[in-house]
Amino acid sequence: MTRFEPRNTTSQRNAVLVKTWDPLMRILHWWLAVTLLLQFGTGTIFWMWGDDLTNRMMFALNLPHFYCGYAFATALCIRVALLFVGPERYRWRDLVPLTEAQQRNWRRTVFYYASLGRRPCPRSLGHNAFAGPFYLMFFLIAAAQVAVGMYLSFLPGGSLQMDSGWMLLHRYLFLALASFVLAHIAAVVMREIHGKSNIASAMLHGYKEYSEEEYRDLVSQRE
Ligand code: HEM
Repeated sequence: MTRFEPRNTTSQRNAVLVKTWDPLMRILHWWLAVTLLLQFGTGTIFWMWGDDLTNRMMFALNLPHFYCGYAFATALCIRVALLFVGPERYRWRDLVPLTEAQQRNWRRTVFYYASLGRRPCPRSLGHNAFAGPFYLMFFLIAAAQVAVGMYLSFLPGGSLQMDSGWMLLHRYLFLALASFVLAHIAAVVMREIHGKSNIASAMLHGYKEYSEEEYRDLVSQRE
């Protein structure tokens, strides 16, 4: 059973704050986000200017790429384990539109994005039903990227193998992850503008805000 802790707000609107993302979820989110962005930064330098770098510069960049890769992999392992053994909000079931309510939310969100925000944006108690499967795909592609990166680092010549097939795969996976991040941020910003909701700040303080009526409807749909 999900633990929601509705709290009356002090605002004049008839609103409730519902604890949705616990501290571990938020820490893992920002840990993954920051370490991945750092990997993107060092990876882009390798990719674009790798041939022009001296061995010393290559080594100086390789070090943060290596350690940050392991920091990303650690958060990813914890998050993936929690898909199977964590509280309900972490479980893979929260990320796949299985229930009727999740499927309805999924369809409405597709209409919302397809109409570029002209259709109403549905709210959800936990993960957005439409985004959920993309998060699972992200975990999968990120795990593949970590595995390829580790394999490359153990190859003779290591990451100096700039033209090997594995490096090409590492680059394609980098592009897939970068596309996810761009689409994810665009989707969050779009929902923030049209949905008039606080989903982005909820990833910082943990609380989503609903009107009392909206919250009652969402809870009754879940039951
Ligand atoms: C490299 C950058 C980022 C990555 C890799 C990333 C990744 C993810 C992942 C994997 C989830 C699913 C959460 C989980 O179940 O663990 C998620 C959810 C979320 N992220 Fe990000 N994120 C990034 C940047 C951002 C930024 C800049 C924001 C904006 C403030 C943001 C806001 C959110 C929100 C609001 C959710 C929950 C959305 C929902 O399902 O309703 N993310 N993110």
